Amino acid sequence: MEQLAHLYRDHISELNRRVADITSRENLSGLVIHSGQPHRQFLDDMDYPFKVNPHFKAWLPVTDNPNSWLVVNGQDKPKLIFYRPADFWHKVADEPTDFWAEFIDIVYLTKADKVAELLPNRIDDWAYIGEHLDVADVLGFTNKNSDSVLSYLNYHRANKTDYELVCMRQANQIAVTGHQAAKTAFYNGASEFEILQVYLSAISQGENQVPYGSIVALNQNAAILHYTALEQVNPAHRHSFLIDAGANYNGYASDITRTYAFEKNIFDDLITAMDNMQLQIIAMMKPGVNYADLHIATHHKLAQILIDFDVVSGDVNGLVEQGITSAFFPHGLGHMLGLQVHDMGGFLADDKGTHIASPVAHPFLRCTRTLAENQVLTIEPGVYIIDSLLAPLKQDKRQQQVNWRTVDTLRPFGGIRIEDNVIIHRENTENMTRKFGLNR
Ligand code: GLY
Ligand code: MN
Ligand code: MN
Repeated sequence: MEQLAHLYRDHISELNRRVADITSRENLSGLVIHSGQPHRQFLDDMDYPFKVNPHFKAWLPVTDNPNSWLVVNGQDKPKLIFYRPADFWHKVADEPTDFWAEFIDIVYLTKADKVAELLPNRIDDWAYIGEHLDVADVLGFTNKNSDSVLSYLNYHRANKTDYELVCMRQANQIAVTGHQAAKTAFYNGASEFEILQVYLSAISQGENQVPYGSIVALNQNAAILHYTALEQVNPAHRHSFLIDAGANYNGYASDITRTYAFEKNIFDDLITAMDNMQLQIIAMMKPGVNYADLHIATHHKLAQILIDFDVVSGDVNGLVEQGITSAFFPHGLGHMLGLQVHDMGGFLADDKGTHIASPVAHPFLRCTRTLAENQVLTIEPGVYIIDSLLAPLKQDKRQQQVNWRTVDTLRPFGGIRIEDNVIIHRENTENMTRKFGLNR
């Protein structure tokens, strides 16, 4: 913990340095960062689960306290306006005493609508960063989530501090424990619903604490890319299992996927091939490499796998260029990871907000950035039998390049995705997911 406090101090220095830089560039006194407010459910007296502003939790591992604020100017100790109402209905946040508290000036707010008393006087010189523009208006902010400030912060947050890297390793280690428990539950015959319960209890995190809705899919459900339905009844035959599930540590996310075959068969061999290919792509990561090029390289490698498994025929380039590989692998290779699962900044060429679009043929790619030291990314190639994407191939000459019998053989298994979380270092890459023992 002492080590974490040490790294945290440097983390705050780096965030302060960034604030000093952007506020001088934009002629601002500083930033006021709002944790958020509860969202009330329609016609109800209950709120949706609270999701904190990522720019707030960048400063502190406080993810569950709405109506709190950070006032940062790049020079002074950050000031935290910490919400502690008199409330006997809900749990009131404890006064912070964790490792981070000594690096922050903490003042307490007992009534959410009295925050103006604790904010800087000439608020017009400060920029509001948060979700509630109506609140910002009432408080008198004129600079609200401006593109220039957000682009700057989002660009630089891709460069993780050592404190953040420790948190992300922890998020991986925790999720790996859950993945191992989930794998055992699958082979022991658990349903999708039961597997998720096993996963969550292994990591000791609730459904609203994990960084995204976990995907736990048996058989053909593995072909539904964002499947979160969770069948409670087991299928008649057990073929395959895809789990895409992460964990949270101090507000930082892991995002991991594994796929398993219930028996040794062609699908199991295909998982081995995809796993090897995923590791080859990770081996290509280093500073200076463009992420979009890795995505394209993955399509070429996938084309060869599809040829080897007699799913398609033809030459590798033609299969990619005609969009045949895209019908089997429709999503992006991965994305930046951090405070958010799909961390902001994946398309930024610079800190002024210059956007690099995805290649036209690959609209779902979420990262076009050039890799640099201390970035964290997922690498998550997939291959699926998705009939709605394969149907157009049947409408033209591409149908002759697909072996529909092999497609029929693979359909009951749904699909494969293998997803690891990787840190780019100057001399090497660090695969956090495998490091904690989650292999094929
Ligand atoms: N779990 C969401 C993703 O892999 O991007
Ligand atoms: Mn992902
Ligand atoms: Mn994922």
